[in-house]
Amino acid sequence: MFKDNLLKGKKILVTGGGTGLGKEMSEHYIQHGAEVVICGRRESVLEETAKEFKDKYDSLVRYESLDIRSPQDVQDFIERIFQEGPLHGLVNNAAGNFISPTKDLSSRGFDAIANIVFHGTFYVTHAVGKKWLENDLKGSIISILATWVWTGSPFVVPSAMSKSALHAMTKSLAVEWGPHGIRVNAIAPGPFPTEGAWARLSPKGQLDDNNPMGSIPMGRTGEMSELQNLATFLMADGCEYLTGQTIAIDGAQYLSGGGTFSQLSKMSEDDWSEIRDMIKKTNDADKKKRSI
Ligand code: HXC
Repeated sequence: MFKDNLLKGKKILVTGGGTGLGKEMSEHYIQHGAEVVICGRRESVLEETAKEFKDKYDSLVRYESLDIRSPQDVQDFIERIFQEGPLHGLVNNAAGNFISPTKDLSSRGFDAIANIVFHGTFYVTHAVGKKWLENDLKGSIISILATWVWTGSPFVVPSAMSKSALHAMTKSLAVEWGPHGIRVNAIAPGPFPTEGAWARLSPKGQLDDNNPMGSIPMGRTGEMSELQNLATFLMADGCEYLTGQTIAIDGAQYLSGGGTFSQLSKMSEDDWSEIRDMIKKTNDADKKKRSI
């Protein structure tokens, strides 16, 4: 879809870049010429991913273990990166989530999610944004959100609340930092199965294909290459006027829950034929009554 050197000369930080969606986006950025920095809580995972990228692409990936819940650690980490040279892009991918009835959540359970997603993402965005402003540099931020920012979502309320706040951050900072050439966008992926997320969000296969809970008009979950392409498009130069947007990539899943009749796409031709007959009978009966 893109030229191989599309991102050449760009240095991009991907939080949570050692696994899952973060690893996939990092790999795509490297394939398109970028220098990538990854961080996450588990050093051994980061080391393994960096080695894999080195072996595959001969690309040196800088990695460091970082808990984004600590504002001081975030600040120090970003300082160290910029001392080696400026960042051009940031992908806020690190997150935490699990499904649970809200009544069963303890305050620590709520904080476990909110501290990572809501607070942690702000700390990283703030630290990187300040460096760009201080040094008069342009930059691009992409946050990985969820379609719950528009619909809300039961059973993942701390995540839905936190990601909605980041949706507000995306729109707000696009305006505040736009005059300085800093773009702020977000991606709201539908179901893109990864090991980490699915173990916590679909432990019994609730979100799998062919399951009524996974009512996706396109009839399938997302292909990782589709997400990678969108993340690369948003990071690349060429559409810099695009800012302040959260873009859903979900096979129209969230829109399908919004219309009263959206579930009717599951009906067969026979169902429709039966329904036409039933409606006709009602109309005919009405007409008969009116003519009496
Ligand atoms: C109820 C739970 C719970 C559960 C944890 N807690 N799991 N409560 N149901 N299933 C409670 C604990 O009991 C504890 O409260 C508190 O949360 C903190 O638990 P810890 O295990 O100590 O938390 P911590 O080590 O900080 O781990 C954070 C975590 C964990 C978020 C809970 O899952 C994690 O590290 N996840 C990182 C990766 C991840 O979640 N990936 C999925 C992202 S998917 P008490 O009161 O008992 O002490 C995503 C969106 C996908 O973001 C969108 C798809 C459409």
